[in-house]
Amino acid sequence: RAAVRQEIASLEKASIDGGGIDRIEAQHAKGKLTARERLDVLLDTESFREIDALASHRCDDFGLESDKAPPGDGVVAGFGTVHGRPVCVFSQDFTVFGGSLGEAHAAKIVKVMERALHCRCPIIGLSDSGGARIQEGVLSLAGYADVFQRNVDASGIVPQLSLVLGPCAGGAVYSPAMTDFLFMSRQAYMFVTGPDVVKAVTNEVVTRNDLGGADVHCSKSGVAHGAFDDDLAALKATRTLLGYLPQSYDGENPDVLPYDDPDRCDAALNTIIPDDPNQSYDMREVVKRVVDGHSLLILSEDYASNIITAFARLNGRVIGVVANDPRHLAGCLDADASTKAARFVRFCDAFQIPLVTFVDVPGFLPGVAQEHGGIIRHGAKLLFAYAEASVPKLTVITRKAYGGAYDVMSSKHLRGDANYAWPSSEIAVMGAAGAAEILHRGVSDEERVAKADAYAARFANPLLAAKRGFVDAVLEPSETRPRLIADLEVLRHKERPNLPRKHSCGPL
Ligand code: COA
Repeated sequence: RAAVRQEIASLEKASIDGGGIDRIEAQHAKGKLTARERLDVLLDTESFREIDALASHRCDDFGLESDKAPPGDGVVAGFGTVHGRPVCVFSQDFTVFGGSLGEAHAAKIVKVMERALHCRCPIIGLSDSGGARIQEGVLSLAGYADVFQRNVDASGIVPQLSLVLGPCAGGAVYSPAMTDFLFMSRQAYMFVTGPDVVKAVTNEVVTRNDLGGADVHCSKSGVAHGAFDDDLAALKATRTLLGYLPQSYDGENPDVLPYDDPDRCDAALNTIIPDDPNQSYDMREVVKRVVDGHSLLILSEDYASNIITAFARLNGRVIGVVANDPRHLAGCLDADASTKAARFVRFCDAFQIPLVTFVDVPGFLPGVAQEHGGIIRHGAKLLFAYAEASVPKLTVITRKAYGGAYDVMSSKHLRGDANYAWPSSEIAVMGAAGAAEILHRGVSDEERVAKADAYAARFANPLLAAKRGFVDAVLEPSETRPRLIADLEVLRHKERPNLPRKHSCGPL
């Protein structure tokens, strides 16, 4: 027994040492932490419990038969706590076979994912890998598929978070891509095919970073929800994000004790909307003044910035915020903004997080590029997501709510629970000038201006909508916070399920 214990101790030490001091130094030289150092930052102090530290590959091809490398097979897996709540984690170790994924490596990931599903706790995956382990052939590919299937099985049941902190290429991208939130460090890159293949096929010359770096994925592709200078910042941000997420779809939301006055009325909101309807203002400032102090956590800030998606708190309770931002594309909905918001709405709905929507939308973005790019299909995703969502839905129209975009943005007609308009609201089919142009083509310029004024007087306000009950009240902006808090309280036990079916068939 003493000999077995000794062997186990030496294997465990080898597992902890990973690929050895030279490779660890090389990892540090690239500005990256090791797999274990990352878990130390992510998890509460000394909460990590490892599983399968001694697992190793069974491959006997291409020299691996004599290279067992350190036990653990290039991934550190287990569970721990964040803010005292359990999470399951895996962290790929680039110092062992380049963090590449083989059969045993995948089996470890699958094991922790299944544990997360059984225990109903979030899964957090840290990627830093050369991809499918080349020596293991199809076994590696099977391993990826096993992980993908668990991603899908867990979707909507427990939150899934990914941190990409090094290479992530080929099939490896699809597990992070299917998780709910994806953060990247600026040492990381993600692409389906790398610069060499791109050059060979399309003759385009591009660096790894310009092809799939963190900033590209947070501003152009929308694949990632946050870009961070280094591992430390990405890991800390993940802890912060987890503070807003429930353990599972049927778990309690992580509400905190109220710390901000629920009756706080903010007089600055009464003057925040400019008199000129074409002048922009900072919607983030509006949201910040309504929600609990310092609680606003914006995601995907640099992608489709014409719409804001964020978590926040109202009287300590977690909410999902969607808001048009008039500083970008005048707050119009375009294809990217629609898909960005649709995905966020679906996440909030799946995890029982009430939705609060702030509306200032002049319509869908016009243009050939938008139409040919499928704005109809993409806009329909947001419409579908809002209509299907059964969580409490609160809406505040701050200014424009025009055309089909009025309907889409969590309107009363899509089972909105509490819909408000500020006195500055304009709720109509289109702007007054455009309406007069279509309705009164043959008239003189002066007459058209007069018609536009008449249209504006009738529709560029919230009165008609209020009279029909399409908004529940015209609110003094300063009173928005107490009103939303009262609504959330009333809606705490809201039940309004969708009709039974296998699943819906919304546009993808
Ligand atoms: N399978 C097996 N081993 C791999 C691997 C893979 N997919 N990717 C990397 N490794 C190993 C390397 O052989 C090397 O081993 P060593 O330390 O014993 O020499 C180690 O991991 C580090 O790789 P290295 O190439 O030296 O690191 P790098 O930082 O210079 O480059 C990559 C990183 C990911 C760009 C490069 O390793 C690479 O292109 N890997 C292959 C990617 C790929 O095509 N994957 C398969 C398709 S998904």
